Amino acid sequence: MNTTTKSHADNNIVWHSYSVTKEQRGQQKQQQPCVLWFTGLSGAGKSTVAGALEHKLLALGYHTYLLDGDNVRHGLCKDLGFSDQDRRENIRRIGEVATLMADSGLIVLSAFISPHREERQLVRDLLPQGEFIEVFVDTPLAECEKRDPKGLYKKARAGEIKQFTGIDAEYQPPLQPEIRLAADSHNINELVEQCINALRSRRIIA
Ligand code: ADX
Repeated sequence: MNTTTKSHADNNIVWHSYSVTKEQRGQQKQQQPCVLWFTGLSGAGKSTVAGALEHKLLALGYHTYLLDGDNVRHGLCKDLGFSDQDRRENIRRIGEVATLMADSGLIVLSAFISPHREERQLVRDLLPQGEFIEVFVDTPLAECEKRDPKGLYKKARAGEIKQFTGIDAEYQPPLQPEIRLAADSHNINELVEQCINALRSRRIIA
């Protein structure tokens, strides 16, 4: 065990490096660990596509875990709301958890609005080059609002929910996502296939 690689200067906490590595955990699972970071408006289809992709990866024999905004807000982040500060903390926690899960050798899928470029960049910076794969679920606001699966856009328009992304809170689309899904003009199988092809070409899966 090596205790000298990283240290936390202000509180005497020292990083321990163990001999079993992320690479070994990934090799055992015959995959390259990574974080597939789905971002997009509420109702864009992030959870639906991520869920279908996880299903396909499982069927192909890969090891995955899906972190989902609504679910994580029932536990790990249940103390957080939707102010800019709370969304920032939400994404920071998820980023750390996703990084730990990738370290365990998994292909992690995360589905959060994650509206700000800066926060997505912070998560990208937690991971080695090539292991943060940003997936922009690019569904226009008008289409998300038409779908309105949880009735939240209607409430936001009526002023019953404040700071709703796309209505009175900003969404900053990725400028150079690794994968862009035109989710309003392709069916779910096509979107999953596009992700699988991208993972193959990046050698995440065989
Ligand atoms: S994020 O902005 O912090 O990344 P997150 O993905 O965790 O958001 O949660 C988004 C989900 O919370 C939405 O799909 C929606 O169901 C619900 N929600 C409740 N209030 C809001 C709001 N003000 N803005 C966006 N989503 C909201």
